[in-house]
Amino acid sequence: MTNAKNYIEKHKNRFIDELIELLKIPSISADSAFSQDVINTSDLIKTSLENAGCDLVEICETPGYPIVYGEKIIDPNLPTVLVYGHYDVQPPDPLDLWDSPPFEPVIKKTTTHPEGAIFARGACDDKGQLFMHVKALEYMTSNNQLPCNVKFMIEGEEEVGSESLAWFVTKHQEKLVNDVILISDTGMIANDIPSITTGLRGLSYVEVEVTGPNRDLHSGLYGGAVANPINILTKMIASLHDEDNHITIPGFYNKVENLSLEERAEMAKAPFSLEDYKKALDIDAVYGEQGYTTNERNSIRPTLDVNGIWGGYTGEGAKTVIASKAFAKISMRLVPNQDWTEITALFKSHFEKIAPKGVTVKVTPHHGGQGYVTPIDSIGYRAAAKAYTDTFGKNPIPQRSGGSIPIVSLFEKELKSKTILMGFGLDSDAIHSPNEHFGIFNYLKGIETIPLFYSYFTEMKLAEL
Ligand code: BES
Ligand code: MN
Ligand code: MN
Repeated sequence: MTNAKNYIEKHKNRFIDELIELLKIPSISADSAFSQDVINTSDLIKTSLENAGCDLVEICETPGYPIVYGEKIIDPNLPTVLVYGHYDVQPPDPLDLWDSPPFEPVIKKTTTHPEGAIFARGACDDKGQLFMHVKALEYMTSNNQLPCNVKFMIEGEEEVGSESLAWFVTKHQEKLVNDVILISDTGMIANDIPSITTGLRGLSYVEVEVTGPNRDLHSGLYGGAVANPINILTKMIASLHDEDNHITIPGFYNKVENLSLEERAEMAKAPFSLEDYKKALDIDAVYGEQGYTTNERNSIRPTLDVNGIWGGYTGEGAKTVIASKAFAKISMRLVPNQDWTEITALFKSHFEKIAPKGVTVKVTPHHGGQGYVTPIDSIGYRAAAKAYTDTFGKNPIPQRSGGSIPIVSLFEKELKSKTILMGFGLDSDAIHSPNEHFGIFNYLKGIETIPLFYSYFTEMKLAEL
């Protein structure tokens, strides 16, 4: 057994217990009722980084939630890895769909996780994955295995747009100087099919409000004679896709990067079963843009989705009413080269334009960010691939993800370094959903793989110099 494997075997119960303690704090950044919990979580991260062997750990105050910064600089002439993660989590609702309370972690076996998985909000996204890095550091520092310098930057606002982190990164470029950025906040194909995420989609998130009459009206007395904002809003939303499920906003596809047939053929080699996919979601058919496969639709193509829609009467029984207002939250996932501020502007002007007379429309942009792709010939990617090959016994497959971590493109712009996305979650881990979980296998495999990345990266980087 390797050194790391031994150490993990010996300490795995404590590693799991410590993660469970972290998962008990409801660090929901979107809900101000939990602000003290978010702050308490940053303190726990600070303590865990100190215990793992950082020489310096700071709570950096920001206009929003604090950023935990930690470092261990062993020799300024050696390369530096900057680890990013987030300690905030998504709101857990709807609560009644959880089999156990979201902030009372339990370990249960599942078909995909026969060794057991920890069920809790944030288990996979991202507390479990960020904690792999803390434990990997503990292993390296306590066994004299840290081959290079390391910096940690853990934020508490990822799930709400990373505004404070953007401010922090722009302000502290000097402090954050690094040779590679390492993030575990994505997924892999399956426990026996390792993959490394090479792309993230960009995002534009907007809220729309349609206003008709100045008050709610009796739907018998006024129905049919005035614009019903809910009817209008749903009609406007429906018109945003054509019959081939292309998005109809003029200019939306102008900058979309079109992959060559060769690149698409390469992508299609990744193992994927449409039957299993449908079965896992209990659907009889997939649905999406004409001319693209499921894996293309959720990675290399841009999309537009309603995330929430409300208005009128939704309580028990029936109320005959025409609401004065209707609302929706809409996200657009973007691909490299599409600029999120440009897309937001295109959406706004189009949505205002298609509103019929009789209603007014307000479009409020929320947050967004650019997409990201990372080359597979960089030292960082090659070091990661070697590390996975050692621990999984198989070469990892490069794969673009449909999700977004908007701050990654800002890292490249401000810190001039590439990000390596070593995600260990599975799509079935239900991030952002009820019953989120993270496999014990994945957690421990991450802790085992990360130190190998450090040593291969250092080795290759020094050889290059
Ligand atoms: N960790 C996720 C993103 C992710 C998950 C990327 C799985 C790839 C695979 C992150 O916490 C997240 O949820 N991002 C948001 C965007 C953010 C601005 C709220 C998203 O993708 O919806
Ligand atoms: Mn995340
Ligand atoms: Mn998330």
